[in-house]
Amino acid sequence: MNGTSLSGLKVIITGGARGIGAAAGRLLAADGARVMLTDVLDEEGAALAREIGAIYRRLDVTDAAQWDAAVAAAEEAFGGVTALFNNAGVLHFGSVTECTPEDYRRVIDINLTGVFLGLRTVAPAIARAGGGTIVNTSSTAGLQGYGGLAAYVSSKWGVRGLTKAAALDLAPDGIRVVSLHPGPIRTPMTAEMDESIAATQPIPRFGEADEVARMVRFLFAEASYSTGSEFIIDGGAVTGQVLQF
Ligand SMILES: NC(=O)c1ccc[n+]([C@@H]2O[C@H](COP(=O)([O-])OP(=O)(O)OC[C@H]3O[C@@H](n4cnc5c(N)ncnc54)[C@H](O)[C@@H]3O)[C@@H](O)[C@H]2O)c1
Repeated sequence: MNGTSLSGLKVIITGGARGIGAAAGRLLAADGARVMLTDVLDEEGAALAREIGAIYRRLDVTDAAQWDAAVAAAEEAFGGVTALFNNAGVLHFGSVTECTPEDYRRVIDINLTGVFLGLRTVAPAIARAGGGTIVNTSSTAGLQGYGGLAAYVSSKWGVRGLTKAAALDLAPDGIRVVSLHPGPIRTPMTAEMDESIAATQPIPRFGEADEVARMVRFLFAEASYSTGSEFIIDGGAVTGQVLQF
């Protein structure tokens, strides 16, 4: 047990087989939540679920029918769903002129349409349970631009905007919706990235997935007066650069 019990929390996590989603699943399960890990990496997801006492289910976030089936399974297993961590995502390198239309659509489909499908499928279940919380993973790339990441930046700004629209639409159902904005975090997604990327941040290092998981836990369990808001966990990256003249 790492903190207060989360025994009332019944959460679906997308992209939960590894990285930030896995760290969140681990922490929430350790604190008593009922956790359904979902991903397209079945072996890793199922192994982690066995280890932490969660359920694993395959869910490609771009597939509406798989969303319906996952929600039905979670409601049956847990007796309801109170939370969603819309975390699955992919990174794609390419400037506006280098990114192909196919790659652009694929990134938008997973990172943004996947979040939309999660909202529209899981929100009614959370409403049936009497209310709850949805955390959508954006990025610092949803707060500013980055060169060479045209599709990714577009998708993450979309997640930030969709979060605000959903927070307003779902407020009458007692559902809070917030966006999460990590800076560089050490996960399989960033395995090839050089540590120097973080060198001029106020906190000059990559973050750990577990640090993000603790913020996710806060958003589900403690942030009872926040909705539509942006929660940044970036070592100060969007504040500015620490430069020595
Ligand atoms: N690591 C970072 O520095 C960082 C920074 C900002 C935002 N993020 C965001 O955090 C989230 C998690 O990233 P991570 O760093 O843990 O990356 P990761 O690559 O380790 O994990 C992402 C997971 O999403 C899954 N996934 C990919 N496509 C999917 C699909 N179509 N359906 C279901 N699952 C799918 C992958 O299989 C993987 O398990 C992503 O949305 C990412 O954009 C990461």
